[in-house]
Amino acid sequence: MIDPFGREISYLRLSVTDRCDFRCQYCMAESMTFLPKSDVLSLEELSRLCGAFIKRGVRKLRVTGGEPLLRRNIMVLFRSLARHLEAGTLDEVTLTTNGSQLARHARELFDCGVRRINVSVDTLDPERFRAVTRRGNLDQVLEGLAAARAVGLAIKVNTVALKGINEREIDDLVAWCGDQGFDLCLIETMPLGDIQGDRTDQYLPLSLVRRRLGEHWTLIDSTYRTGGPARYAEVVETGRRVGFITPMTHNFCESCNRVRVTCTGTLFMCLGQNDAADLRTPLRAGASDIPLLAAIDDAIARKPKGHDFVIDRRPARPIVARHMSATGG
Ligand code: 5AD
Ligand code: SF4
Repeated sequence: MIDPFGREISYLRLSVTDRCDFRCQYCMAESMTFLPKSDVLSLEELSRLCGAFIKRGVRKLRVTGGEPLLRRNIMVLFRSLARHLEAGTLDEVTLTTNGSQLARHARELFDCGVRRINVSVDTLDPERFRAVTRRGNLDQVLEGLAAARAVGLAIKVNTVALKGINEREIDDLVAWCGDQGFDLCLIETMPLGDIQGDRTDQYLPLSLVRRRLGEHWTLIDSTYRTGGPARYAEVVETGRRVGFITPMTHNFCESCNRVRVTCTGTLFMCLGQNDAADLRTPLRAGASDIPLLAAIDDAIARKPKGHDFVIDRRPARPIVARHMSATGG
């Protein structure tokens, strides 16, 4: 799939549920209304959808949410993706998770060919963790991380940089990730979805974080890229990488290779734009994949050039109304 700007689309991020057992402050409101089950694609439909994207040239697939491991029988999907890995029609299956259910799934994920996962950890302080996630248990996540490491999954920790919350802890996170053998990726808050409260209060520019890290660590810019928006630096003292995702201060759209599908089968061509394509209707129209493939082709032909995130105090609503948990991180 080649989009109108000559970018080859080979990466699909698939959200398998909008539900989550956490309510991270920057991601969700305290009380969320989740989708009715009939709107959500079944595991069979998700698996057929993946098959269609793979037929269209997707080589890398990330399973996201909400919290993907909360979806009942989710391993059915991973097993179907494992068959594509074995057949060589897919290069990689990865997972983004909050880690809460990781302890019981780590082994099977590995057996299904998953080799790399991203786990969100914004703080290593149990009370602060509870406060940021509104209901998460840090110990449970740490157990999940230990289990994942034990089975051989490579782990990247995602940390959203939050002003006045974890900004003094970033050094500790770099040290901890170094000890554990994890990469670390720092993320600026993005204006996605109504979350109650003012997002400018949370916004912490990574340029500042990086400058502060430079006081304690030797950071060497790295050419390492994962095909994603992160820019990496090597931390000489730990021998690990630290990545920076700066959607507000840096535009990374030129090299975008990805699209996102929600658990209702809505295809978003860009995380920061509202244009979308409905894939559920062609998927449910019948057994033939022809209408589905046509809908995908049609949507890719409309993939926009880029996004334009701005955190502004005045408009109370974010430009993009849907939450990260709906589109998939
Ligand atoms: N801004 C930045 N990051 C976010 N995440 C969720 N919502 C937002 C947001 N509004 C993060 C999660 C997870 C990753 C997938 O996205 O913490 O680490
Ligand atoms: Fe759940 Fe992830 Fe959103 Fe936190 S950021 S509420 S863990 S989906």
